[in-house]
Amino acid sequence: MSKPKILVQLDSDKHASNFDAVVAVDSGIDQLFQYSQVASEDVQGLIHGAMFTRGIQDLQQTAVFVGGSNVAVGEDLMAAATKCFFGPMRVSVMMDSNGSNTTAAAAVLATARHVDLKGAKALVLAGTGPVGLRAGRLLAGQGASVKLGSRSKERAQKAADSVISQVEDANVVAVSTATEEETALAADNVDVIIAAGAAGVQLISQTTWINCDNLKVLVDLNAVPPLGIEGVEMNHKAEELENRIVYGAIGVGGTKMKIHKAAIARLFESNDQILDAEEIYAIGERLESSN
Ligand SMILES: NC(=O)c1ccc[n+]([C@@H]2O[C@H](COP(=O)([O-])OP(=O)(O)OC[C@H]3O[C@@H](n4cnc5c(N)ncnc54)[C@H](OP(=O)(O)O)[C@@H]3O)[C@@H](O)[C@H]2O)c1
Repeated sequence: MSKPKILVQLDSDKHASNFDAVVAVDSGIDQLFQYSQVASEDVQGLIHGAMFTRGIQDLQQTAVFVGGSNVAVGEDLMAAATKCFFGPMRVSVMMDSNGSNTTAAAAVLATARHVDLKGAKALVLAGTGPVGLRAGRLLAGQGASVKLGSRSKERAQKAADSVISQVEDANVVAVSTATEEETALAADNVDVIIAAGAAGVQLISQTTWINCDNLKVLVDLNAVPPLGIEGVEMNHKAEELENRIVYGAIGVGGTKMKIHKAAIARLFESNDQILDAEEIYAIGERLESSN
């Protein structure tokens, strides 16, 4: 008989994400061990506890989920976890700090339903946050040329540099979107806009995006009014608006949840999976193709 499925949740925040805990339970795990305020130096002990207790044949029944609001810290925790592994002594790990990977994967998959991303021109508004950064990384990995926007050119450049360091041959530039005029300039000529701004902040007006002649798809991830893209409503899901295809946060959210649950389930298929942005996107692609 197989051992119970244990998910070890390593979260850098004061309280480990309740959202991630609920999704884990809904994904069919048997036991959830939650750790909060986890720092890199804590990881080795926690991972050793997970990988030295069960026999090698049962290691796929234990997996690790890395979360928390800070993606950079999540990346460090993930790196610290994978550093502990050797030979067959390993457990599968998924990283989804602040829902960044699953949400970005769902947003990029939504655009890919309508636009060939290879060679497409994309603008990610608020490309500095957890979700925007991952959306930029995935778009670049799919061969799109990407503009990462921020109210600060310096922050945008830092985000662009991080994507360039993670994606081979990435075509990514930083743009300032501090004013509507700058946003209009950044949006000129793009095929796709993904708005990944903080809750309750409008990032682009309808008057601005309507004038972007090449624009085909708009995706807004903000579900708190005012929404990120004026005119796009949170429930929009592949709706046509002003001859463009639009998605709102709830329209993308269903796909995000399916990807998140499928990724948790995938962790327990073997003990050697490392699920970061690209792997989680690939899970989303497989879900789409099986529908
Ligand atoms: N639909 C879903 O399933 C789902 C799941 C998870 C998250 N979300 C949503 O996705 C969005 C992105 O999430 P996140 O965690 O990456 O967001 P975040 O960290 O809260 O914010 C992202 C970026 O928004 C910009 N920003 C913050 N305050 C602003 C303001 N007052 N005016 C203009 N820009 C501002 C900042 O960029 P700069 O300072 O560089 O300009 C920041 O880096 C959020 O709205 C979140 O609620 C949706």
